[in-house]
Amino acid sequence: MVIPRHLAVIMDGNGRWAKARNLTRTHGHRQGVVAVREIVSNASQLGIEYLTLYAFSSENWSRPASEVRDLMGLLRLFIKRDLATLHKQNVRVLVIGSRLGLADDILSLLEKAEDLTCQNTGLTLIIAFNYGARQEITDTFRQLAKEVEAGRLKPDEISESLISQSLYSGGIPDPDVIVRTSGEQRLSNFLLWQAAYSEFVFVDCYWPEFDMQQLELVLVEYGRRNRRFGSVEREDVELEQNAVASGG
Ligand code: IPE
Ligand code: IPE
Ligand code: MG
Repeated sequence: MVIPRHLAVIMDGNGRWAKARNLTRTHGHRQGVVAVREIVSNASQLGIEYLTLYAFSSENWSRPASEVRDLMGLLRLFIKRDLATLHKQNVRVLVIGSRLGLADDILSLLEKAEDLTCQNTGLTLIIAFNYGARQEITDTFRQLAKEVEAGRLKPDEISESLISQSLYSGGIPDPDVIVRTSGEQRLSNFLLWQAAYSEFVFVDCYWPEFDMQQLELVLVEYGRRNRRFGSVEREDVELEQNAVASGG
């Protein structure tokens, strides 16, 4: 099993998990929170440094108002109930996403979670809430354009690393592996820039079913991948050189 530095998860399938059991979608989301608790402690235990969880997308506002209310309520409840435990587990909480459109009490809870845990040295838990990658990139472009307009930045100084640093996720390494549950195979506007060289693992189980065993299967699969980042294996370079040298 290879432990990635940064694991990112698209937690999908709460609704289908509930439907298969004749339960309400609300029930599915509640069970999803149980799985969140579990992955946070499992990831800490395994020594993963960064865990990003996609909890609410910028497109999820288009769901029925009652479901949006439920999801907001669950975030409130999660922070209120679990913050002390997260802090005790030495977890550092960060939130990525747009703060626009979030209720004031949610904003203060998110800030409280970040402030209380900012000195913690264990797992960094990144909650992607009201997050959309296109929105993130748009906000970043706008902010950099303002810097240029104010004369503080030259267009030629805009580099890949400056863009990375300026995203909501600035300072967080790119995800090594992105997992999506529920069998869907798409990014749904998650970490588009950061995913340039991430490995993708799609698992069939619904999010509420994702436990330590599922996580271990993902890590075994990740360990089988051969990450080349556009280059070639060193041993392949040597084989090639030997073949050329022997006239092959
Ligand atoms: C994921 O489960 C949770 C969120 C998107 C907030 P879904 O609610 O998308 O569940 P399905 O995809 O309808 O089964
Ligand atoms: C992606 O799931 C968003 C989150 C997990 C928060 P969705 O269920 O919203 O995505 P689509 O609509 O199937 O692409
Ligand atoms: Mg879904």
